[in-house]
Amino acid sequence: MKTLKPENLPRHLAIIMDGNGRWAKERMLRRIVGHRKGVETVRVIVEECSRLKIGYLTLFAFSAENWLRPKTEVTALMALLKQYIRGETARMMQNDIRFNVIGNRADLPEDVNREIDSTIQKTSGNRGMLLTLALSYGGRQEIISAARRLASEAAAGRLDPDSIDENSFGASLSTAGIPDPDLLIRTSGEMRISNFLLWQLAYAELYFTEVNWPEFDRDELARALKDYQSRERRFGKTSDQLRRGGEQPS
Ligand code: IPE
Ligand code: IPE
Ligand code: MG
Repeated sequence: MKTLKPENLPRHLAIIMDGNGRWAKERMLRRIVGHRKGVETVRVIVEECSRLKIGYLTLFAFSAENWLRPKTEVTALMALLKQYIRGETARMMQNDIRFNVIGNRADLPEDVNREIDSTIQKTSGNRGMLLTLALSYGGRQEIISAARRLASEAAAGRLDPDSIDENSFGASLSTAGIPDPDLLIRTSGEMRISNFLLWQLAYAELYFTEVNWPEFDRDELARALKDYQSRERRFGKTSDQLRRGGEQPS
């Protein structure tokens, strides 16, 4: 495989980590075994992205809709999450990674929230990659809560509704200060967004692979990044315009 161009890596990579359950089922294992194996992939991919100097990595780990899964699976996932965050803090420190969480944290168990707070605090001075876990996260819910906040500011007379624009709306979301994802990867062959970062993905390049998350590895990541580097991001313009370097055609 040709080498990656370091100057054309995504600044922000977002991943929908899917297929843990199917990976386990194919091996006649319990779903939770797939989730455990998936955590190993998280370790590998976080470290590799940080090594590649990707600025922002956002991982969809648990959706607002995933609460509808059987209670035993939800409980096991929460336990695994807590264990992961606790176990990875030292490595985040070594790799200069700053930890962050988006999603409805009020839904999460108290012990998980304590672990999150502790790791956010410990890693807050790090200056390398920002690792964001999306937990109990839903894109529509996030947009609604931003709209509610802006509406109540307007109702209180502190905000002129006409002043709301893409920048200020974006700044009201949980990803304020984080650039929009340049590339979204989804594993396991599903080709949908599943309520992830709806606003922020407006112009992301999408990459789907059949590989299940427990089997996603450095080579698969390199393949996705390579594919990304072959895309022309036009943002509505024509190819010619991009090649002429932003010059306005008559
Ligand atoms: C992704 O794997 C992990 C979570 C959603 C928590 P799944 O658990 O969705 O695996 P499949 O889609 O059932 O194979
Ligand atoms: C999306 O995966 C959420 C995460 C990866 C955490 P799901 O497996 O829950 O998505 P659907 O239900 O197949 O769309
Ligand atoms: Mg799934």
